[in-house]
Amino acid sequence: MKTFKDFMEECVKEYYSSTKIGKDFFTAPELDRAFGMALSDHLYQLIHDMNAPALLELGGGNGSLAYDILSTFKSKYPDIYPHLTYYIYESSPSLLALQKERLKEFEGKVFWIKELVAIEGVIFSNEFFDCLPVHVVKDGKELYVDGSWGPISDERINLFLEHMNYKDKNHVIEICLDCLDFLKAISQHLLKGYHILIDYGYTSNDIHKYAEGTVVGYKSHRLVKDVLKETQPFDITAMVNFSAIVEYGKEFGLKTIRFENLRDFLLASDSFLEELERLSLSQAPEDIERLSRLKTMLVSMGDRFKVLVQEKASS
Ligand SMILES: C[S@@+](CC[C@H](N)C(=O)[O-])C[C@H]1O[C@@H](n2cnc3c(N)ncnc32)[C@H](O)[C@@H]1O
Repeated sequence: MKTFKDFMEECVKEYYSSTKIGKDFFTAPELDRAFGMALSDHLYQLIHDMNAPALLELGGGNGSLAYDILSTFKSKYPDIYPHLTYYIYESSPSLLALQKERLKEFEGKVFWIKELVAIEGVIFSNEFFDCLPVHVVKDGKELYVDGSWGPISDERINLFLEHMNYKDKNHVIEICLDCLDFLKAISQHLLKGYHILIDYGYTSNDIHKYAEGTVVGYKSHRLVKDVLKETQPFDITAMVNFSAIVEYGKEFGLKTIRFENLRDFLLASDSFLEELERLSLSQAPEDIERLSRLKTMLVSMGDRFKVLVQEKASS
């Protein structure tokens, strides 16, 4: 029988094969371009002294984040823009087509890849890791698609529980082996540079808040709680276990150099602060609307989302 992980993997694939970001939920880049502008400032700090840096985005959505980053580099960082290459790793054919359309003006600058490529620069993602499927376990048993609890399907699950020292029997633990596989691949493909992961998640210190697990679905901006009963294609996600990313990162040669909430990360960017100031002084209806979207980013996403920056250890 299929495990919950198999079910989640199929749901994600089916959902992204025929959707556009914004229909069922908004991501920060879809909310406002100030997110991409802020991320660009941070990226610039990390790559400005590299000769031919590359940016590799995992899961490009509608292409908005790539558009905002490339536009910011072109206008604000002309010293590095001519030497920059941008890669997008995307599995959904329909989103890939949207991205190609959106990024037409950056032809020759952006490349789509089916496998990670080796780069000097930064591999980064926003709301990518939360799409990767999780094994759900409780008290030595794993959740299957019919809602029953059966044998653990992959020996690496037990190794993970031991490694992370998770012993509570009355607690659901979600194990994202695919996240660890991606993390390892990221480290292997970073010749030199950094990994930035932006997503909602928790650490081992606050895992007790999620005794029933964190998997939820989204459909038309509504929460789907009982995901095993939902029939229509819907977005399904699990919060990211940042402690696992930090711990396994160390094993794979990625040293965590920064971990903070999204609000602090955004407010540490000149571009974001300038946008905030300019919009708060303006009376134009469009600017007033944008200001409210920036506040949403800072207030409702600001604490829930975290930013983790890891540096590839030099070999
Ligand atoms: C929630 S969306 C985020 C999109 C974009 N980063 C944003 O913030 O708007 C997740 C993205 O990851 C892609 N994706 C999900 N699972 C993937 C996988 N296993 N391999 C490659 N892309 C994947 C989806 O197709 C989609 O583009």
